[in-house]
Amino acid sequence: MTHPVSEIGRLYGPEFAADPQATYTALRARFGAVAPVEVVPGIGAHLVIGYQAALDVLTNADSVWSKDSRPWERRLPDTPAAAGVKGMLGFRTNPLFTDGAEHARYRRVISDCYRMIQPHRLRNLVIEVADSLIGSFAPTGAADLVREFGKPIPLRVFNQILGRPDADSATLVAALADMMESDGEAAARGGEAFGRYMVELVSAKYECRGDDLTSWIIDHPERLDFAEVLEHLVVTVGASFEPMSSLISNAVSRMVSDDRYYSSLTNGALTAYDALQEVLRAEPAMANYGPYFVVRPILFHGTWLQPGELVLVSYAAANTAPIPLADELRSDGGAYLGFGAGAHRCPASDPATIIAVTAIERLITHLSDLELQVPREELTWRPGPFHRSLAHLPVRFTPIRPHQPGASSWPPLPPSR
Ligand code: HEM
Repeated sequence: MTHPVSEIGRLYGPEFAADPQATYTALRARFGAVAPVEVVPGIGAHLVIGYQAALDVLTNADSVWSKDSRPWERRLPDTPAAAGVKGMLGFRTNPLFTDGAEHARYRRVISDCYRMIQPHRLRNLVIEVADSLIGSFAPTGAADLVREFGKPIPLRVFNQILGRPDADSATLVAALADMMESDGEAAARGGEAFGRYMVELVSAKYECRGDDLTSWIIDHPERLDFAEVLEHLVVTVGASFEPMSSLISNAVSRMVSDDRYYSSLTNGALTAYDALQEVLRAEPAMANYGPYFVVRPILFHGTWLQPGELVLVSYAAANTAPIPLADELRSDGGAYLGFGAGAHRCPASDPATIIAVTAIERLITHLSDLELQVPREELTWRPGPFHRSLAHLPVRFTPIRPHQPGASSWPPLPPSR
């Protein structure tokens, strides 16, 4: 059944970016668990907004879903908007876009290698990076915590986990910043610079192994070839950068605007970990980035789906779908889908949690009176169909001087005269 354009949810534009929950609520009222949407003008998808329906897709309960986007890609029009979506959903030989035995093989490699990242080493690395970032803006009394903290942290941390020195991270940060630009030229330049950086990294590690993720992936018994190793490092950086930085920024934005967490007056009792749980449930970074492709016709939760169509699991909508049951009777047991579920569930939820909690704890330990420069409702969110991501997080605080990098107590600067 085709729906009038006016009824279709638009996952683009400033209105959706400002209040995606309003769109989910309207779609839920009109369509139930599965709703027709456009990810960009002219490119449609089925958005799965019911919790049980989301779980049915993620756990492949009906054996009708595939992660292979190629049949869908072949039907895309040749437009700039379609090319943009392809950047996020185009087929790659990595775990995100493969099924069955091929997926299991790739998944073994990344899961085994991610598990080799020692938690205490990761924590120390995050402390080092977080302290150096905080040190650079602490004396100023103000910062944009998206640009100066949330974004650089995952890149600088993963750059070192992959086996390149921190001194090289500026190249990686600049390449990814360009890639995220909507200006096509800058994005293409960034993409090339990122590709070059990763090829250089893998080539160097084939020559000389180290105690790092790249070398572990090369030496994994599944014996990935050069191109596959490269793909797995690219997906590691790609899959960690956007969700990690949004998770950190979204959580900090909640903590500094809610006295239950953090208040120099009331000593809020909830922790950074609590803020992460709240964000993963109510405002997950990968809001609608659960792409699955239909392999045979099916009537799914009241909607007919056809082969090759794009189905997007909305973690954000599924997590917040109202359930008319007391908490103890909910079939989800209070769980959330912020890290996905089933065979493609995020294999890095533990390191991701360590990175986010450590970084945020460092921030609020050093800057004990952080406050937003504008009320949280006035913060702006980056437009886009897939993520929930702040554009800026402007804060102010009492300036401090990092006289001893890495130490947790920095003295406040004397008041300016
Ligand atoms: C340490 C940083 C991270 C790394 C290296 C990472 C890596 C990955 C990879 C490789 C996959 C694909 C797994 C597969 O298809 O089998 C994945 C899936 C996923 N990740 Fe992460 N991730 C990270 C952080 C996060 C964060 C912070 C979030 C959410 C806030 C997140 C949410 C997800 C979700 C929802 C999926 C499932 C996607 C799907 O169903 O298609 N990840 N992640």
